This record gives sequence, structure tokens and C-alpha cells, in this order.
Amino acid sequence: MLLDADIIFAGSVAPAQHGTSRVIPRTAEITLVECLTSEQAIIKVERNLQERMIPDTFSNKNILITGGLGFIGANLAIRLVELGAQVTLVDSLIPEYGGNLFNVEPVKDRVTINIADVRDEFSMDYLVRGRDFLFNLAGQTSHLDSMRDPYKDLDINCRAQLSILEACRKHNPGVKIVFASTRQIYGKPDYLPVDEKHLLHPTDVNGINKMAGEWYHILYNNVYGIRAVSLRLTNTYGPRMRVKDARQTFLGIWIKRLLDGEPIEIWGDGLQLRDFNYVDDVVDAMLLSAADERANGKIYNLGSDETINLKTLAEKIVVLYGQGTYSIIPFPPERQVIDIGDYYSDYSLIRARLGWAPKIKLNEGLRRTLAFYRKHKELYW
Ligand SMILES: NC(=O)c1ccc[n+]([C@@H]2O[C@H](COP(=O)([O-])OP(=O)(O)OC[C@H]3O[C@@H](n4cnc5c(N)ncnc54)[C@H](O)[C@@H]3O)[C@@H](O)[C@H]2O)c1
Repeated sequence: MLLDADIIFAGSVAPAQHGTSRVIPRTAEITLVECLTSEQAIIKVERNLQERMIPDTFSNKNILITGGLGFIGANLAIRLVELGAQVTLVDSLIPEYGGNLFNVEPVKDRVTINIADVRDEFSMDYLVRGRDFLFNLAGQTSHLDSMRDPYKDLDINCRAQLSILEACRKHNPGVKIVFASTRQIYGKPDYLPVDEKHLLHPTDVNGINKMAGEWYHILYNNVYGIRAVSLRLTNTYGPRMRVKDARQTFLGIWIKRLLDGEPIEIWGDGLQLRDFNYVDDVVDAMLLSAADERANGKIYNLGSDETINLKTLAEKIVVLYGQGTYSIIPFPPERQVIDIGDYYSDYSLIRARLGWAPKIKLNEGLRRTLAFYRKHKELYW
């Protein structure tokens, strides 16, 4: 514990964390800490750094976001425009996925939108040129669809990832890439919380293809020096997520049913544990990983300390909305066979290395999400 009057000086050695001591760079502000653990104190100092580093890193930079009209891509695009970046979005707007032109409404006159498919090698050869950063988020996200149409998932989540990297190798090897990977690649956890050392044994085709997509990025970093980092996202939620169905996240269809006055359907016994990240926190992690050279070639879990079971989550949403009901029903058989049971992440690696930790609590994130869909439901139903 550090006491009220303890001060962390720029340039000093921070308290040991995970067995190492770390030098706080001289640019850090002197931080007066009120009764924080040493780890919290380091995060606080890192946050000061992040707040200063991120605008400098992205202002006037040339950025490509694949999947940029989707849920996370659009939230990222809005933030990057606010930071002064020149942003191009590439998205195929395949109707079953989360792309929606309204997602970028707040910045529609300040981004370039290219409706193209990342499977088109000629388009990608052209689109990657001259970019400082590539946020590679285009993907098929439905686990069930990947079982029904495995070749489409293979083409988008695996083959196209390789061709994006080949385009970078040939036309822009200096680019820095952030890849959106997923906790799905761990499959049914052998232990909890799941850290990055956990074996990868996905339970569905989507998990296998995302795993390959991730490792192509790490391979190109290691072999060709094309700087890349992979973030293994857990359940991400917030404004602009797809709520028409459960393709992107079950939480989406829960919110739609709640607002439509229908009961939320919980599959299974409702006791499955999950962790959730609000989308702004995921955007933070992406920006930090892009900005920090220490992230090159690394794989980091994202996660949250607020682990919750699905029944409690449903109760929470009903309370926050002020009305609604839920029912617990048996798993549809085709989902049961690919279900991963309980999952929550150990995200201590990215916290220790890059100082990332989620800031938005579940209650606040859900409140903001409900408010967004109350206002804009006709554009997402
Ligand atoms: N949302 C989550 O909880 C979550 C969790 C883990 C990983 N991820 C990963 O994050 C990334 C973004 O996910 P999201 O939640 O924003 O989903 P999303 O469906 O909203 O966004 C993906 C976007 O990619 C676009 N896209 C798909 N195939 C394409 C193609 N062939 N060419 C061009 N564009 C294409 C879609 O139109 C969509 O706009 C995905 O790669 C996903 O696997 C998301």
C-alpha cells in the first residue's frame, strides 16, 4: 500500500510488480496517490502517459479499419476521428453481419468509406498502401453460422487475413497492425480465469479460423517484421452492436427483446459465468496496443473483474430498464454442442505491460447501451 503522502516521481523505479521493477518514464506526471495498492498506482501513472501519448500518436495519421462499419470498428473510428486521424473504413456490409452505415453517423463527413470485401485481394493490395496503422477487425462473428457455412468463415477469418498480410508485406511493410482476436479460440476452459498460456482447443469452426488468423499476424511480425499485436476480446457490448439476432452476442438480442416487451431467453441453467467489456474500453486497448511498440508480436487477453452469471445479468438489465421478464429455457441442441460453459479472462498481462484495465463498470455500460437503443431502435431492429 502507498499512503496518502506517497509520491511517484517521474524517472523513479516503480514498486515491483510480478517480480520486476519498472522505470516510470520521465514524461510521467508526478502523481499524488491516495491509499492505492502499488499496482493501482502504476496503472494511474500509466494512464497519465496514455492520455498524453494517444493523441500524439494518431493525430494526422493515415488509418485503415477493416470491418469499420461494424460495432467495434465504428466506435474505434469515431474515437480516431476525435483524435485527429484520417480514417478510411473498408467494409462489405454483408447483411448478416454487424455493419451499419448509421454506426458512423457522428463522423460520416470526416471518414472515407470504401464498400469492399477483404476477400478481394486486388482491393486490399490497393487499400493498405500508405497507412500508418491498420486495425484489422473485419470478420464473420457468428459461431453457429461458422458451423452451417464453414467455408465462408474460412475465407473471411482465415484466408482473407493471410491476403491482407500479404498485401502489407508487398505494399506497406512499415504499417502497424492490431488484430481483433477472440476468447473463443480457447474453447471450453480447462481452468479459470483463462490466461494466455491456456491451451487453444476451439469448440467451433469460427474459433479455429480466428486462431489461424491471429497466428498469421504473429508470424508476419516475427518473420517479416510487420509489427502486429493480437487482442483476444471477451464479450464486448455497447452502442452500435448488432441486436437483430444472437449472431454477434446474445446480449444484443436480449436488449431487443427487452425493448420489444418480450421475455429475455436464457439458454441452459442461467448459471454460466461470463465477463464483459464495454466497447470504449476495448477501443482504449486497441489504441494503446497500436501506440506502444512493446506490444509488437504480443497476444493479450482483454477481460473484466466483474464476472457474472447469465441469470444475474438478465435480472440486472431488467432492473436497469425498469421493466421486463426473462425465462430460462433448454439450450437449442446445435448451440449446446459448441457451448464453452463458464468463461472469464485473466487480463493481468496487458494490465502489467501496457497499463490497460477496463474503466466502465457493467451497470454504467448497460445503462449507456440501453439509452442508445431506446433512442435509435428503428435503425437497428
Ligand atoms: N463483439 C465481440 O464480443 C467480439 C468478441 C471477440 C472478438 N471479436 C472480433 O472483433 C471484430 C469486430 O467484431 P464486431 O463485434 O464489431 O462485429 P461486427 O459484425 O459488428 O463487425 C465486423 C464487420 O466486418 C465486416 N465484414 C465481415 N466480413 C467482411 C468482409 N469479407 N469484407 C469486409 N468487411 C467484412 C462486417 O460487415 C462488419 O461490419 C471481429 O473480428 C470479431 O471476431 C468481437
